[in-house]
Order: sequence, then structure tokens, then C-alpha cells
Amino acid sequence: CSASDAEKTVVIGLAADSGCGKSTFMRRLTSVFGGAAEPPKGGNPDSNTLLSDMTTVICLDDYHSLDRTGRKEKGVTALDPRANDFDLMYEQVKAIKDGVAVDKPIYNHVSGLLDPPEVIKPPKILVIEGLHPMYDERVRDLLDFSIYLDISNEVKFAWKIQRDMAERGHSLESIKASIEARKPDFDAYIDPQKQYADAVIEVLPTQLIPDDNEGKVLRVRLIMKEGVKNFNPVYLFDEGSTISWIPCGRKLTCSYPGIKFTYGPDTYFGNEVSVLEMDGQFDRLDELIYVESHLSNLSSKFYGEVTQQMLKHADFPGSNNGTGFFQTIVGLKIRDLYEQIVASRAGAPVTAAKA
Ligand code: ADP
Ligand code: G6P
Repeated sequence: CSASDAEKTVVIGLAADSGCGKSTFMRRLTSVFGGAAEPPKGGNPDSNTLLSDMTTVICLDDYHSLDRTGRKEKGVTALDPRANDFDLMYEQVKAIKDGVAVDKPIYNHVSGLLDPPEVIKPPKILVIEGLHPMYDERVRDLLDFSIYLDISNEVKFAWKIQRDMAERGHSLESIKASIEARKPDFDAYIDPQKQYADAVIEVLPTQLIPDDNEGKVLRVRLIMKEGVKNFNPVYLFDEGSTISWIPCGRKLTCSYPGIKFTYGPDTYFGNEVSVLEMDGQFDRLDELIYVESHLSNLSSKFYGEVTQQMLKHADFPGSNNGTGFFQTIVGLKIRDLYEQIVASRAGAPVTAAKA
């Protein structure tokens, strides 16, 4: 039997290269929904499925059709569509959306092999995150909302160095080489998905420090598509105007190089969008309320909710800059989208369930 329209799973797609902040984003998102940000106790430790009361997250690496050895033998990377089973991805996401549980494979990142599958029951919200949520047109059409985390090469490099050199003992050369080796497939199969995203979070080096190449201070752009059902872009001061705002002064503490916001309409891959940009970083997270109070359409449930969420997860990467700030805002927008979908279904005439 299948679900009636009123309880159909809402499906969200989150695309990015690996090491670009998807897990961090998921932790911020599940927190907005009030869920646990850790895998369920007793669950398969390699399962990427995070569960809160409402949200299930599937890591699309689980749809690798070639395991590590298979990829090596065929000479293809994990980014290559030939290493991934889009038919199965489509069938299972569609089944879940239709209210039917599936046996989802599990890709084990330690062994590089596929582990026995796990049962995924239809949740209220399903997030599919990984390299290719918007690659296959059939899967793309199942998404109620899609997000692309667009981390520029300079910043990606800085993050990788920080993680792989400091925490995993890799050399600078090997990190450079692995980024270079992935680049052709990244450009061919991952990056083009951003044209389909309803929201893109673009992360670039700062423009506040001339010739900065440290990748510590970031310029982050939240690109929001206009005309997306159940999604009203956030704006600064006056919707549709072009605004430049330096909030540093009496109400916001800013050390060098300061903070600069810009907002305005733009086009992105031929689509009308609104872009909110933040360059620089916060010195004091509690003062974020000052910035929050000047933004509209945040979809918060109470005054200061964005700031509260940011303070709650001050230890997550990106909490002092636009990456964490915009991820939190997108989390609120997704909650709002979900609530609007549920409300519109409740108001709609009930369609007869097919036998
Ligand atoms: P993914 O799930 O896409 O692989 P993660 O969320 O696990 O990415 O992040 C991977 C690493 O990238 C983190 O451990 C951190 O070092 C770095 N990172 C991610 N997001 C940020 C950010 N906003 N600012 C700084 N570093 C970040
Ligand atoms: C996962 C990640 C990829 C990564 C791969 C490692 O699939 O999503 O980004 O490249 O694991 O693959 P490898 O063939 O090096 O084991």
C-alpha cells in the first residue's frame, strides 16, 4: 500500500564535493528540526543515515555501483556516473516518496566495500546528500528543494590542508595531487548540478584583504532562485533593491578586516535570483542578533532564532562567518517549505488512494 498525498515524504537534495561541509550542514539542519545530530545508537556505524524524529539523511555514496577495487580496475573515480547506480537511486527515492520502505545499500568508507543493506522507512523529510543528487533528471524531478554548496578551489584547498594535513598526516603534495586528479570529473559531473539548485551557497576568498590566499576569511554568497514554490528568498532592508551594508560600528564588534554585506537581484544560469553576500567574520556570535534583525523573510519562529542556532553550534566549522550563518538560514527556509507543503496538503481535497 502507498502513502496518501497528505503524508508523502518531502525530499531535499544537497550536493557538494566531499569535504565541502555537507555533514556540517546536515547537523545544522537536523538541529533546526529539533532532532539528534548523531547517528542512532545501535545502528550500523558506517551507515550515513542520520535520524531525527522527522528527518532521514541518505548519503548517496551508498549508491556506488563500483566498490573501491572496482573503481580502481575500471579506472574511474567515485565522481564518475559509471561508478554510481542511478537506476537504483531513482527507484528507491521514488519508493520512499510514495511511502514504501526500501533496502538501501551501504557503502563502507573504511573497507571500500558495499555492506549488507539497511531498511529505510519513509520519513517526513528525506535528505539525499552527496556528489550527485541533481545529476539524474529522474531523481532531480523528485526533489522538493535542492541546495548546492559551491566551494571555490582556493577555499577547498585550504580546508583540505587543514583537515588532511593536520588531522590525517597527508603531505601538501599529495593533497594537491588528489584535488587535481578529481578536478576533471568534478568539472564534468558535479559542478554543473549547481544550475538546477534552488539555493546555492558559494564560498570564495575574501575581497576585504588584498591578494588574500590564506582562505581563512571568507566571502560567502547565498544565491536564491526566484519563483520557487514555497520558498521566499531572504532580503536585506528592502526587497529587490541593491544594498551594500557595513554593520561594524557601535552595535557590532569587528576586528580587521571587518564585515561587509551586499544584497540584490542578479541572474544565475539564466534564472532570476536574489543574492545575499557576507564577506568577513563575526568577532562575537551573540552580536549576530543585530545583523539578524535587519534581515527579512528568515522564516524564523521567533525573534533571534538564527542567532540562537548559531550560538548553540558555535563549535561547528564556519560558525563565525557566512557559511554557518547561511546554512542556518537555509535550514529555517527548509523547515518553512516543509510546513507549507504539509499545510497545503491538509487544505487540499483528499485524493482517492489507488489500490
Ligand atoms: P563533507 O560532509 O562534505 O565531507 P564536512 O562537513 O565533514 O564535509 O566537512 C569536512 C571538513 O571541511 C571539516 O572537518 C572542516 O575541516 C572543513 N569545513 C567544512 N565546512 C567548513 C566551514 N564552513 N569552514 C571551515 N572549514 C570547514
Ligand atoms: C567516497 C566519496 C568520494 C571519494 C571516495 C574515495 O565515494 O564520496 O568523494 O573520492 O569515497 O574513493 P576511493 O576510490 O579513493 O576509495
